[in-house]
Amino acid sequence: MKAFVIKGHICQSKTPDAIETVENGYIAVENGISLGVFRELPERFRALPLEDFGDRLVIPGMSDLHLHAPQFSFRGLGMDKELLDWLDSYTFPEEAKYRSLEYADKAYEIFVRRMRQSVTTRAAIFATLHVPATELLMEKLERSGLQTYVGKVNMDRGCPEILCETSAEQAISDTERWLTDTAERFGHTKPILTPRFVPTCSDALLHGLGTLQKKYGVPVQSHLSENLGEIEYVRWLCPEAEFYGDVYDRVGLFGGVHRCIMAHCVHSDEREQERMKKNGVYIAHCPESNINLSSGVAPISLFLERGLHVGLGTDLAAGSHENMLRSMMHAIQASKLRWRLLDQSIKPLTVDQAFYLATAGGGSFFGKVGKFDEGYELDAVVLDDSALEHPQELSVRARLERCIYLADERCNAAKYVSGRRLF
Ligand code: GUN
Ligand code: FE
Repeated sequence: MKAFVIKGHICQSKTPDAIETVENGYIAVENGISLGVFRELPERFRALPLEDFGDRLVIPGMSDLHLHAPQFSFRGLGMDKELLDWLDSYTFPEEAKYRSLEYADKAYEIFVRRMRQSVTTRAAIFATLHVPATELLMEKLERSGLQTYVGKVNMDRGCPEILCETSAEQAISDTERWLTDTAERFGHTKPILTPRFVPTCSDALLHGLGTLQKKYGVPVQSHLSENLGEIEYVRWLCPEAEFYGDVYDRVGLFGGVHRCIMAHCVHSDEREQERMKKNGVYIAHCPESNINLSSGVAPISLFLERGLHVGLGTDLAAGSHENMLRSMMHAIQASKLRWRLLDQSIKPLTVDQAFYLATAGGGSFFGKVGKFDEGYELDAVVLDDSALEHPQELSVRARLERCIYLADERCNAAKYVSGRRLF
């Protein structure tokens, strides 16, 4: 791949607590990898082609650590229930439609087009339990240029017959076939093991998936400690477990040697947090979803303080939008309400912290991703905020803050994934 240089106002996380801006700065890129950020372009890079973005902002691409592709179709609908009733009333009936490849083709085409145009460069995505539709989604994502993990969902209990694996054995053999079929088929679309969550996965299914994890070394994603009704139900289903996450850990689906994302963790207690830290589990914080389903607000600044891995997710369609800038804004706003109404010992999130979560925090799940420092994969989004008119002079930092809070898609001017330009 070619080498080139990007020029613009460069913004990235220096630490989880601080954004660094370099006005009229340069990023040199070779084979999709950053060679560093420079205030003055070193002599050795001056002959390279220059992609000059002038007065625009250049930020790292965002990693969406949790979303459901089949739910994109009903975004913005059915927000009148909590998790378990919401699943029964809206989500399961919609996901059942993906038995039809014709429907999946139409729905996933829209989803992938929107994702491509978004500020997201990487994502960990739930599909449905249907293998043909999941492979179709993977093909479309591969063509989009995004870097993604996609999960064939596993669920063999607690769901309508129309959306239920016929048996744990069937689910495991389907999953194994799908894993081996897709592991090497694509360049930047990879399979991820996806037990939906404990209420819809029998012990036999979770065990079988744990065995597949060991055999193939694939990453894992699921849901954890999201909503009070769900947590109560899991306690009843698995009285022998020390805590919710322990159910996954007992079968080897909770990090440790493998990479693992657990969405939500709104109500994770001390023991669950400790285990996640010990096992290096990534928490996908999905603030808008947690508001819409009345789940609560996760104590994210506490998680950061304790050194847990945290990133952001949109959780479509419990979250209504694929725009990660909106997720950042929701994360900040939710944390302020939590601080005001619930617990003033846990500080609200700052803009700098939310930016970190969406870029370097979640990006590290994918490797050296989410920053522009030397050796990082070059995932970048260029924001043209000229449509967001203002009469006064604004610093680059202030312009970035406004881009986050206004989350206006008209600003999305260019996007690179691993050095490949998507638009
Ligand atoms: N828990 C299990 N399935 C789901 C889902 O589809 N969305 C959310 N938000 N939580 C879940
Ligand atoms: Fe989810």
